[in-house]
Amino acid sequence: MGIEWTPDLAVGLDEIDEQHKELYRRIDKLMDACQQGKGKEVVADTLNFLEEYVVTHFSNEEGYMQRFGYPDYEVHKRNHAYYVNNLKELKDLLAEKGPGVELVVRTNVMVIEWLNNHIRKMDTKMAAFLSGKI
Ligand SMILES: [Fe+2]
Repeated sequence: MGIEWTPDLAVGLDEIDEQHKELYRRIDKLMDACQQGKGKEVVADTLNFLEEYVVTHFSNEEGYMQRFGYPDYEVHKRNHAYYVNNLKELKDLLAEKGPGVELVVRTNVMVIEWLNNHIRKMDTKMAAFLSGKI
């Protein structure tokens, strides 16, 4: 079963929805590679992509939340920071030990949790608040 963005995840802002779709595509690619035993070959690419992605994407979301006075802004922002830190740890592990099994597993755990908890729960909650205001 593939990892796929579905319309129930729509935030209602094209820019953010496109970024979420891109994230789903990237993670689907990583999962595919893992199933074929090629996780080690794509994990570094995935982490490099995520490193740039979080800077643009999280600041986009935070900008909207601030602009519209989202009450859970601080909690949401802290959760973004959690992924940024997690990502940094994984990049350090990559630099230290190269793309091994541990890195692949930890990356998979992080991204799946990200989709299921952050996007599916926190981002849709933010979307519900922003809806009608934008
Ligand atoms: Fe978010």
